[in-house]
Amino acid sequence: MSWTLYRHYKGNHYLRLGVGAHSEDLSPHVVYRCLYDNPEARTWVRPQGMFEETLEDGRPRFTPVARVRLVQPEDHATVLAFGYDAWGEGKTLAEFIAGYDQSRNHLRGTRYLLETLEGVPVAGLNTLRFRQGLMGLASVATDPAHRDQGHSALLVRAVMELHRFLHGDVRFLLFSEVPPSVYERHGFRVLPAEHQRFLPSVAMATGEAPLSAAEAEALKAYF
Ligand SMILES: CC(C)(COP(=O)(O)OP(=O)(O)OC[C@H]1O[C@@H](n2cnc3c(N)ncnc32)[C@H](O)[C@@H]1OP(=O)(O)O)[C@@H](O)C(=O)NCCC(=O)NCCS
Repeated sequence: MSWTLYRHYKGNHYLRLGVGAHSEDLSPHVVYRCLYDNPEARTWVRPQGMFEETLEDGRPRFTPVARVRLVQPEDHATVLAFGYDAWGEGKTLAEFIAGYDQSRNHLRGTRYLLETLEGVPVAGLNTLRFRQGLMGLASVATDPAHRDQGHSALLVRAVMELHRFLHGDVRFLLFSEVPPSVYERHGFRVLPAEHQRFLPSVAMATGEAPLSAAEAEALKAYF
């Protein structure tokens, strides 16, 4: 299963969720999800012919840019290696990858990757299912050869919107090892000092409400 990401000719990005038949005439309609904060709606429907059409000026309305999919066992070594330069701690690459077999988050998590349209994995992340409506993001990493091209930003947002579409309102937690502003653009806020137990990794969450006791417990059990 994979989902294709598109750039609209006006610049915004979207995740194509699938195709459904119109109830009145069975015409195919693409269901797709905004990867930015659109107050009007996040999930949109458009006739498939229109979704895939070329505009009068010759540009496609939507251009495919990448795909998101679940990491499969055969992808693990490739995706885990993306974070080796940051988290390798003097281990060899083989030791670093093998070490994930003892990592609680690795074993309980579900990883996603972003791949090029040619099928080359370029970025990965882990999702942690803490409880209904509460999900953690972890181990966001991009292949060093493909950094600074917007891949991790696209992957983070696509995975968040996919889970919001599938599960309704989801609160996300993460620990940022890059300036928090990188995640603030996806709706994360830096949590108050009482939740900052693993600095310099900065605890962040989506949503305005203070963390509930159960959410704070999930954050403590993050690592
Ligand atoms: C951090 C990392 C995942 C970013 O991946 P990437 O695909 O290069 O990121 P993007 O191109 O999507 O960048 C998204 C934004 O974050 C910013 N950013 C990314 N890493 C940054 C860093 N270390 N310091 C400051 N800003 C950073 C980028 O400048 C970009 O902002 P812009 O859109 O204003 O230019 C990548 O550098 C990496 O894999 N590092 C090693 C693992 C790691 O530290 N992960 C962080 C876990 S929180």
